This record gives sequence, C-alpha cells and structure tokens, in this order.
Amino acid sequence: MDDAQLYQPVRGDFCEEGIAGPCGLVIFGASGDLVSRKLLPALFALRARGLIPPDFYLLGFARSPFADESFRANVREDLRACCPQADSAAVADFVAACYYLQGDYARTADYAALRGRLTELDSRHRTRGHHLFYLATPPHLFGQVVRSLHQAGLITSPSDPAWTRVLVEKPFGRDLASATALDQALRQVLDESQIYRIDHYLAKDTVQNLLVFRFANAVFEPLWNRRFIDHVQITVAESIGIEERVGYFEQAGLLRDMFQNHLLQVLAMVAMEPPLSFEADKVRDERVRLFQAIRRLSPEDLDRCFVRGQYTAGEIDGRPVLGYRQEAGVAPDSRRETFVAARLFIDNWRWYGVPFYLRTGKRLPRRVSEVAIVFRQVPYSVFAPLTSAELRPNVLVMNVQPEEGVSLSLQIKSPGPHLCLATVNMDFTYREVFGHQPPDAYQRLLLDCMLGDQTLFVRHDDMEVTWSLLTPVLEAWEARGEPFPYPAGTWGPPEADRLLAEDGRAWRLAGSL
Ligand SMILES: NC(=O)c1ccc[n+]([C@@H]2O[C@H](COP(=O)([O-])OP(=O)(O)OC[C@H]3O[C@@H](n4cnc5c(N)ncnc54)[C@H](OP(=O)(O)O)[C@@H]3O)[C@@H](O)[C@H]2O)c1
Repeated sequence: MDDAQLYQPVRGDFCEEGIAGPCGLVIFGASGDLVSRKLLPALFALRARGLIPPDFYLLGFARSPFADESFRANVREDLRACCPQADSAAVADFVAACYYLQGDYARTADYAALRGRLTELDSRHRTRGHHLFYLATPPHLFGQVVRSLHQAGLITSPSDPAWTRVLVEKPFGRDLASATALDQALRQVLDESQIYRIDHYLAKDTVQNLLVFRFANAVFEPLWNRRFIDHVQITVAESIGIEERVGYFEQAGLLRDMFQNHLLQVLAMVAMEPPLSFEADKVRDERVRLFQAIRRLSPEDLDRCFVRGQYTAGEIDGRPVLGYRQEAGVAPDSRRETFVAARLFIDNWRWYGVPFYLRTGKRLPRRVSEVAIVFRQVPYSVFAPLTSAELRPNVLVMNVQPEEGVSLSLQIKSPGPHLCLATVNMDFTYREVFGHQPPDAYQRLLLDCMLGDQTLFVRHDDMEVTWSLLTPVLEAWEARGEPFPYPAGTWGPPEADRLLAEDGRAWRLAGSL
C-alpha cells in the first residue's frame, strides 16, 4: 500500500499527545530482562518521537557491578537489538543521558548515595527534582525499596512542586491478603496519586479503542446491552509455554499471571458504564463499579463456572513440545494451571443474564487476544425454509493481538438468481489503515506516568475488588482437585467447551476474523 492510501488525519479529527516535562527516571532492577526488552526500547522511541524532553536522564540501580560506561554499552546493545535502523546520533544522544548506580536494595547507605547522585544529575539535566521511580525488581522487593526511598527523604509530598511518582510492576500481590499488605506498605509513604500500578494490557491501543469505539460512535452503544447481545467471549491465548519463567510460574499460575489482571481489565473496558468524562478517576470509578457488579460465586458454583487446565505433551506448529510437568524445574506432580476458562455474570441493569466467557492459556494453537461480542439472533426468519436459528448472528471482534483491528460479521445475499445468504466481514486492521502497528504499551505507560495521567493504571480499590473475586477460586484450587489435562496445541481441556455447551453455545475459533 502506498502512503497516499494510508489514513491521514482530517480536519475535526481529535488527536492529542502530551509531551513530558523534565524529569529523572530511576529504574530499580536495571540489569533485568524487562529493562532490556521493554523499557529501553520504549524510552528510546518516546525520545525519538520528541515526547521526552532533553531535560531527562535515566539512572539504573541494581546490585550487578556496572559503571556508567559499562551500563551504557549494554543500553547501546539493547537498542541495536530492538531498533537496528535507529539513527546513530539519536542512539548516542539517548545513551549519553543514561547512568548507573550499583547498590543493594536493602542497604540504607546505598540510598544515601542515590540521593547524592540524584542531586548531581538533577542539576546537570535541569529536571527540577521531578523523580519517577520504576520498580522493575522481583515483587518481594517493592515494599523494601519504597520504604528505603522514604527513609532517605526521596519521596516528596503530593503538594511539593518537585513531584515523586512510583511505577509498580505486576504482579501486585498473589492473593487478597498479600496485595492488601503490599498496598499498605506503599500507602504508608506514598499518596494514591503517586502510585502507578501497571497492567500493560490497559495501555494497548486496541484495548483503549474499546472505549473510543463504544463512546465515540452513536451506532453501537444503544445495542450494547442484554437486549441485543447474546454473550461475550474474551480470549487471551499464547502458543509459548513458560520459557525462562519456571520459578515464577510454579508459584503463580495463570489465574494470577493473566486472569486477575489482563482479562478482567479487558472485561471492564467492554462492559463498564460510560464515565462522566475521560479523567482518570472518572474512568477508574466505572471500572471499579463494574468489578463490584460481577456475581460472587458460591463454592459449588466455582467448579461449574471456573475450569483450570494444564498442558501435556503435544505439537505446536508441527513441532513436538513437552508437557508442563516435563519442563525443567517444574515439579512432576505440579498442580499449577496453565489454562483458565470462566463464565462470569454481571449483575446490573445493562448485563443481567448475559454470560461473559473468558479464557486464557499457554501452549494453545496460536497467539491471539480478542474480544468477540456475539449479538442475538434475529427474532424471526422471513427467509423460509431457513429458521432464525440458522441465520448466523452478527459478531463484532476486537482483535488485540497479534493483528490489531476490528471486524463485524454481516449476513448478505450472495450474488445470483437464488436467495443464498453469505457471511461477510467489514473489517480494518491498524497496519492497513495507519501503515504500522500501534506502539508498544510501555511507551504509553511511561509517558502517561511522566505526564501524571493515571487513567490506564490500576487504582487500589480496583486491585482489591479483583483479588476478592478470585481469592476464593485460588483457595478452592489449592485445597482440592487437579487441573484438567489438554494436549499442547489444542484449545484447552474439553471441560472448557462444556462451560459453553451447557448453555447451548461454543467457543469461536479465535483469530479468525
Ligand atoms: N520481563 C517481563 O517481560 C515482565 C513482564 C511483566 C512484568 N514483569 C515484572 O517486572 C519486574 C522485573 O522483571 P524482570 O523480568 O526484569 O525480572 P528479573 O530479570 O528477574 O529481575 C530484575 C533484576 O532484579 C534483580 N533481582 C532479581 N532477583 C533478585 C533477588 N532475589 N533479590 C534481589 N534482586 C534480585 C536483578 O538485578 P541485580 O541482581 O543486578 O540487582 C535483576 O536483574 C518483575 O516484577 C516482573 O514480575 C516483567
């Protein structure tokens, strides 16, 4: 496609992108995987797009023995790997603003050294003392780091002209009790307005597009309720297994890793009421209200509404792969779930009686994340002998990854003298329309935090209500039973199909627009 065919903004199109002000970014755990693969590429892209000002520096903090120069060499290498086409002057400019401080997360003296270094860098880069602290360490260190920052006098009050913001990676706790304890530790020294809890799914363009699609178009919202929607399916599927994350995954499992955060946040975007405005707390209020309306399940209902699975040996793309229990480092009798499916109901005026089917799994046939809104069938067929049940319902699919886009299926008459019906899709992909895929979610998250916009971050009550919903499921699974097995390369155990079959429905083939 040539550039002339690509989407060009037209007069009246709304487009707003804030440019961050001066600040210093301190990353704890700067020697880790997240920093190399996600944060550095995102920061570099923001800088290249002119969204981070020249008055900016990055200070890496970790135990690994680097000096500024050796850290910069790593940064250069990471940028070369992610952005091979990058302009060398732009890389040099970015790398020159990167620094490193070796330190122990638990040692008070190292935070005093951090304070000294920040004073020097703030003056050199004219950042006016604005600091963003990114917690990219394993989660057990989050509370410790924030406490130490406070003791070192590095956390300003919200009314101070020099702001302090803290970005907290997931996972945020492992159940309601631990999440609440971590939250208390953070909120002892930080105001809620200074805490940015990350769920990077919220920052994906297609997830945000759910709100724009619903609230900037008049045609869909009148249909967005129990009168017109039969059910909703949300799928987040991965074909990979647990890769390098065995230790973490054996402790966590998929309900904690994907369901409590990403799937529920997507559900909220699909089902929440229109916020009064697009301000952070107005949007977050509606998300929380939606979570509060999810029906609580009795212990008997848990088994009927939640299915857990674990992959056994199978094939992905024609290649044999091991079962979960055969992976190195996994206990041979591990009961960790690598698949979760659920049927949830939202007890409010809009959605009462509409099932929301959610599933997520590892070693499924392909990597795909999508939301499918399945509309009701026509009430009566005028096309005898076809019955209304034989006329396919309209399905609106919001594709989150890998090909971000939207598709609406319609019934039409196929050409010719006979009355034959065919299903066609009206669709678009971001790549076709805009010429590229949307930027990585970490760009959005980092920029929003620098701008002080908390809309796409998880608020404390949001986190509490999702954990309170799922902690009984975790407890029931810890106490009894085994996950249902499914061969790698299939769409999960048959019990997940049963969830829908007993309602007279079936999973869509995810990823087929
Ligand atoms: N990687 C991802 O794609 C990803 C995705 C979503 C969320 N996250 C979250 O982001 C955070 C960072 O992830 P990551 O994959 O970069 O983690 P990581 O590589 O395991 O750890 C980051 C750094 O923390 C330090 N560290 C590791 N284990 C430690 C320990 N037991 N005690 C003290 N320090 C330790 C190490 O630095 P030093 O030894 O040099 O101090 C390490 O380089 C985690 O909370 C993770 O859950 C990561």
